[in-house]
Amino acid sequence: MQNARISNLLDIQQSLNKMSKNKFNEWLHFRNQNEFIIKEVIQRYNIKTNKLLLLGAGNGNDLPLNYIENTFDYIEIVDIDENALNRLLSKVNNTDKFNKIICDLTGLEKDVNILNEINSTDNIHEKVSLIEKLKPNPNLSDISYDFDLVINCNFSTQLLLPILPNYGFQSLLLGDLAIALGNLSEQIHKKLFEQIHNHLNSNGMLIHSTDTFELSKMSPAFEPILAVAGTINNTVNIDLRYLKIFMEQGLGIIGYQIPANTFKLFEFKTLFKALWHFNNSKAYLVLLWILKLKPVRD
Ligand SMILES: C[S@@+](CC[C@H](N)C(=O)[O-])C[C@H]1O[C@@H](n2cnc3c(N)ncnc32)[C@H](O)[C@@H]1O
Repeated sequence: MQNARISNLLDIQQSLNKMSKNKFNEWLHFRNQNEFIIKEVIQRYNIKTNKLLLLGAGNGNDLPLNYIENTFDYIEIVDIDENALNRLLSKVNNTDKFNKIICDLTGLEKDVNILNEINSTDNIHEKVSLIEKLKPNPNLSDISYDFDLVINCNFSTQLLLPILPNYGFQSLLLGDLAIALGNLSEQIHKKLFEQIHNHLNSNGMLIHSTDTFELSKMSPAFEPILAVAGTINNTVNIDLRYLKIFMEQGLGIIGYQIPANTFKLFEFKTLFKALWHFNNSKAYLVLLWILKLKPVRD
């Protein structure tokens, strides 16, 4: 799978994962929050712990690997970047429990020529019409079935990085470009959510974790969020009413939105928030949507 056709989808992810490969100690605070949330979901909704699927697992620096391997019998880890998954595996004790799958979650592999054209033009109208030509078709058929729990590991805002201008915030992009990128992310996630639904068993649940607001000097969300929260550490306590307003104002990171078919496929259970101190200059407010599989009737 690591061939020239996916190289421009892969390159940026590989270099970001290389940059964050040594963050295991620094991200303990985020792993602890994730561990608390996963435990809570398993207990509260009585989830079985036979099979776990981690989509976009990367280096695993943000995942409570110890807890995960002690809790689940079988864990499938998926990413476009095989090197990152190998780093994850080097941190676990029982590699026999893990199965590694290399997969591109955008399904844009066959459109690489268009991706190159998008990146080689500075003309926003051209970019928009090229983005509209893309036909994302993510294909999870190499992944196994019958999972008790699927966790989307904050890949959503990463998927469009290969074609995203530097500032990936809706409100900082020109209107048409923000709309085109939003539509593309929606098309990808619709197909991903449909397939995730098929890979869960009838009692299965999805934890859709996605970094939603960036808290940094560059981010348009920073000041409005701080004005409500007072301090960065208090942002996890912000009332959802405010977050909804900030979302409507386009202050979120491109790609964080859940697709329109979410509530047809899943029953919304609850929403957790977590704070990810990513590095010295930025943190992320992460939303974790807890979704239970709904039987789908046509
Ligand atoms: C926020 S990171 C998750 C873990 C983090 N990299 C760490 O170090 O612990 C999101 C992951 O999504 C993966 N990803 C991005 N685009 C992808 C794609 N098109 N297909 C599959 N995985 C992708 C990245 O390679 C990355 O590992």
